Amino acid sequence: MRRFRMALAGGGTGSFIGPVHVMAARLDGAIDLVAGAFSSNPERAAEAGRRFGVAPDRAYRNFREMLEGEALRSDRADFVTIATPNSLHFEMARDALRAGFDVISDKPATATLEQVIDLQSEIEKSQRLYVLTHTYTGYPLVREARELCRSGAIGVIRKVVVEYSQGWLSGPVELSGNRQAAWRTDPSKAGAGGCVGDIGVHAFNLVEYVSGLKISALSAMVSKIVERRELDDDCNVLFRLSNDAPGVLHSSQVAIGESNRLELRIYGSKGSLIWNQETPNSLIIHWSDKPTEVRYAGSGYLGESAKRATRLPSGHPEGYIEAFANIYREIVEVLVDRAGGVSNAWRDTLCGIDEGVRGMRFIAQVLESSNRSAWVELN
Ligand SMILES: NC(=O)c1ccc[n+]([C@@H]2O[C@H](COP(=O)([O-])OP(=O)(O)OC[C@H]3O[C@@H](n4cnc5c(N)ncnc54)[C@H](O)[C@@H]3O)[C@@H](O)[C@H]2O)c1
Repeated sequence: MRRFRMALAGGGTGSFIGPVHVMAARLDGAIDLVAGAFSSNPERAAEAGRRFGVAPDRAYRNFREMLEGEALRSDRADFVTIATPNSLHFEMARDALRAGFDVISDKPATATLEQVIDLQSEIEKSQRLYVLTHTYTGYPLVREARELCRSGAIGVIRKVVVEYSQGWLSGPVELSGNRQAAWRTDPSKAGAGGCVGDIGVHAFNLVEYVSGLKISALSAMVSKIVERRELDDDCNVLFRLSNDAPGVLHSSQVAIGESNRLELRIYGSKGSLIWNQETPNSLIIHWSDKPTEVRYAGSGYLGESAKRATRLPSGHPEGYIEAFANIYREIVEVLVDRAGGVSNAWRDTLCGIDEGVRGMRFIAQVLESSNRSAWVELN
């Protein structure tokens, strides 16, 4: 099978998610990182190129030079991955599509709702692939939970509770040199959403991805807890699902003691599901008429979708990088199918621009609802 070539925006020394994309893309041996515009600082970009083992002439000084340089090569990158702060996502994705590259973008899709609508039409015009990396959708037991909802095994969904709490922004760390905190709390770089745009949107995506339902209306209260912070750092949302079931989403970055507590609970008429990102290899299922069950990743009894997302036998923990790698593995499948002439090569386990638009609408409507102290629609 041919290997695919990746170019990366972001991933400079000291950054978080760019290097994770590289590890995940490389895990199954089908993708090579060949080029990058790794940093806004040219020296750090060159240093990252050396660290990643990219040829010096392909560790570009900026994104524009990367698109121009790669477009001229016979061995040009197949796709561009965007792992920079949010405010850069739209222009980078648009320009890469216009230059003929497929695009893999980290969330949120853009910095504003207007941008994501424009991006949607750019994608339609370009006919290129666009994938949004909502990492948590790659976990085997998230796939298992999704199947249990879709098959009706837990019955009619009656209530959903999702929490995404962290504590790392509980003080003004953005003022003392924490680069990740600095851009996340700056509206010109993060967009209008703080906590809601950074992690609330993951929780929102997980609800819709697993339940198969849409959030149709919501009432939100966002807060700026840390003094002088310009963006929200705490977010509480009541919502209604498309089947009229109620739900609660709460998300915080000032919850001292919480590392990355993403937990989804779905209550159905026959049973309920609990999945927690910090213990991702088990899924608890409570049944109304039989004892509680715990399913473990890697077990033979799991459904096909979870098995496909697993590399190791049970008891050998897989985690964040493997979940991310599952997204890249499916991207490769799509690229292979497309190269083989398969007309509809998409995988419905991947998130794309539709999820990007939903996420941006969620962020905008949470802020709108909180400002107006009113329920708002989400469709
Ligand atoms: N999927 C997930 O689970 C997940 C997790 C973390 C972050 N993210 C998203 O990934 C993105 C990056 O977050 P992060 O935590 O890695 O940020 P970060 O601050 O750690 O890294 C950002 C990188 O982008 C580089 N950069 C900035 N401007 C650039 C430019 N003009 N050209 C090229 N590179 C540039 C920086 O130098 C840095 O290397 C954000 O959009 C964030 O929301 C997603």
